[in-house]
Amino acid sequence: MDVIICSDEAEAGAYTAAKIAQIARRKGSDVVLGVATGSSPLRAYEALAQAAASGQLDLSQASAFALDEYVGLPPGHLESYHEVIRRTVTEPLGLDPARVHVPDGFAQDLAQATKDYEAAIAAAGGVDVQILGVGSNGHIGFNEPTSSLASRTRIKTLTEQTRLDNQRFFPSLAAVPRHCLTQGLGTIMEARHVVLVASGEHKAAAIQAVVEGPITAMCPGSVLQMHRQATIIVDEAAASRLALADYYRDMAANLPDWQRVVL
Ligand code: F6R
Repeated sequence: MDVIICSDEAEAGAYTAAKIAQIARRKGSDVVLGVATGSSPLRAYEALAQAAASGQLDLSQASAFALDEYVGLPPGHLESYHEVIRRTVTEPLGLDPARVHVPDGFAQDLAQATKDYEAAIAAAGGVDVQILGVGSNGHIGFNEPTSSLASRTRIKTLTEQTRLDNQRFFPSLAAVPRHCLTQGLGTIMEARHVVLVASGEHKAAAIQAVVEGPITAMCPGSVLQMHRQATIIVDEAAASRLALADYYRDMAANLPDWQRVVL
């Protein structure tokens, strides 16, 4: 696990975008991206959009798979992740909408939709680089605490904490869905690289638990300690509880050339 401590949210976003662009260029035009919603990756998406607009990065043949979708919203709802991914990823990054996939939280048969989603990821050859945020309770995707570390795409119930955290996107807590479809931790762990970005003091405890805590279903993100190519990119505030922060800074300052990311 590589931990990169950036000065602020803007630098963390730029670093995240540069890391993703590096992986995408090495993979080639048919790169498969795993994309997250929420606030954490927005700076990175902006930077990737600029790179795509200026011709530095061609994602027109890329595919993308979202982590999750609410269950209970009507199709077309502005806060459904189908819509959020369209606004923040598909259009700005210049992706082909036919190659962008979001779990079908509107399906009549949700269990079948989760199986179809796993099959679609497999048919695309798996995810090359998965972008992640982390919940204040340590969730990745919507794998809430006590999720099986081997779980696959499935229906989950959101915790009160997650619904409170996401209330900012809805008129009231009652309007925040209670259920979702989410890629499982086992699904996420199959991505060839994972890049988690977090900023702000409110993420410091979760980042400490993900990076330095025990591997436990009580902090689902801690499963990333078992991933062979995980990069955790944080700003100073989100890094503020890391015991080995000086070691991570030293490591980042002395990365070998092949691992170095140029901003
Ligand atoms: C989003 C997702 C979640 C978020 C997490 C952090 O698709 O799967 O795990 O990444 O809830 O959300 P923000 O970035 O809004 O703090």
